[in-house]
Amino acid sequence: MTTALDEIHLPAAARTVRRLRLRPDGALAPLGPRAVRLTAPVGALSLPDLAPGAMEAVAALAAGEQTEEELAALVAARDGDAGLLRWQLTRRRLGTAGMLEHSVHLAGEAAEEPLARLRPVGRGAAEPGPTPDPTGQVKLSRFASASVEGGALLVRAPGSPLAVQLTTRAAGLLAALAGWTSPAALAQLPGGLPLDAVRQTLRLFAAAGLLAYGSPGAEPEAEEQRFAQWTAADLAFHSRTRRPTSVAGYGGTYRFGDRFAPEPASPAPFAGRKVALPVPDLDELVRTDRPFTEVLEQRRSVRDHDERAPITLEQLGELLHRSARRRQTFTGGDGQELADRPYPSGGAVHELELYPLVTSCTGLEPGLWHYATDRHELELVSEPSAATAQLVKSARESSLMQTDPQVVLLVTARFGRVMWKYETVAYPLILKHVGALYQTLYLVGTAMDLAVCGLGGGDAADFAAASGLDYFTEGSVGELVIGSRPPTLRQDVGVPRREARR
Ligand SMILES: Cc1cc2nc3c(=O)[nH]c(=O)nc-3n(C[C@H](O)[C@H](O)[C@H](O)COP(=O)(O)O)c2cc1C
Repeated sequence: MTTALDEIHLPAAARTVRRLRLRPDGALAPLGPRAVRLTAPVGALSLPDLAPGAMEAVAALAAGEQTEEELAALVAARDGDAGLLRWQLTRRRLGTAGMLEHSVHLAGEAAEEPLARLRPVGRGAAEPGPTPDPTGQVKLSRFASASVEGGALLVRAPGSPLAVQLTTRAAGLLAALAGWTSPAALAQLPGGLPLDAVRQTLRLFAAAGLLAYGSPGAEPEAEEQRFAQWTAADLAFHSRTRRPTSVAGYGGTYRFGDRFAPEPASPAPFAGRKVALPVPDLDELVRTDRPFTEVLEQRRSVRDHDERAPITLEQLGELLHRSARRRQTFTGGDGQELADRPYPSGGAVHELELYPLVTSCTGLEPGLWHYATDRHELELVSEPSAATAQLVKSARESSLMQTDPQVVLLVTARFGRVMWKYETVAYPLILKHVGALYQTLYLVGTAMDLAVCGLGGGDAADFAAASGLDYFTEGSVGELVIGSRPPTLRQDVGVPRREARR
């Protein structure tokens, strides 16, 4: 609210004007002569039984920005004072349902472009926060992040259904709010905004959760473990993917459905030479395999490989066949080719590909190979090179191995398979699939008496350099070291266990 002080000191040209409008990504549809329904990407609101002035006010909000006074005048002219009271309830419902955008303008500025706009981006009430004291201490939350969306600069806080859009005139506030300051100090910045404009803009920041809790010297975001342990990037990722109300686009939205064709289940084959893999006799394995519970209980990470008897091509083929081969291909209701493999995959999209990087395997030359899941064969991607050596070195260091791993099994995602359909959950789905594949490889490897150890990190740029694949189209998202298991295991790494061998 504008204070008497501002009225006295601000020149007329710099007076702050607050406006509101219906969120432009929403649709307004008539439900009858006196009723409308608003539909937004997240949520909908029906307004039945509107008086004629209130109908006009809603239509005016849909047409463009209005001040509260202009809306009240529209309503009063048609509906009288009793209508004004009812309008206040309707106006509140619009705000609570997140259907309104609030903006702060400077009267007299060119075209009165808003300095800042509070934009609902998820589901939740969209009303400005309290007006800060001129000398009250304010600071940007360390979790706030800025991005460019639809040609606008948006500032967001993780988990909030609201974002603040800033124009050039107000963007300087962001830098100034990196440390504790006050509205009065912000208004003193060179080329800064009038005090009331600063305070009104900060109301939008507060509503969107962009301001830090606490005060100078008492900052929970930095001091309390539950906040301090989060990086801004991790909390934004967690909130974006685990708070469907804070962002539109949850689940399968097919946002690229009309721009790009779905990618086929099989990637384009590599030009290098092919090696057909032996097919294990699954019927025989059903009869002879070790019992499931024994395999589950004896699974462990093994970081030693038997140099005297390296893993064989037959064993590598059996591991890949039992864990990751394509059992069938079928077409989903959305037209995307889907797949069936031994491990599960959200929506059956099966975007993961496997690349054995071989240093020592009886019957197979060293190099980076691709496992064609549909044909159960290996395709040479690259002969050993400086780039493949870097991948081997990283895996050896991550697994604390004393020798080069016999096989580094790199797992990639063909991102488009998932992102063509899913939006906010796409990347987390990929990571979950990697986990499902890891455990399947661990269990099959244990049943085969192989050494398996999953790794927690890798470098997708190194993989792109080694494979020649485009980083943004298909990238490494996981890796394991695989080899023959020696008769005795080192005891200086991993979980302390009494038995050295099953
Ligand atoms: C996702 C994931 C990441 C891992 N990352 C590594 C790693 O980078 N280096 C390593 O030596 N072991 C790694 N491991 C193996 C774990 O250290 C191991 O599972 C854990 O110590 C428990 O031992 P166990 O697998 O023998 O039960 C990883 C395991 C998983 C599932």
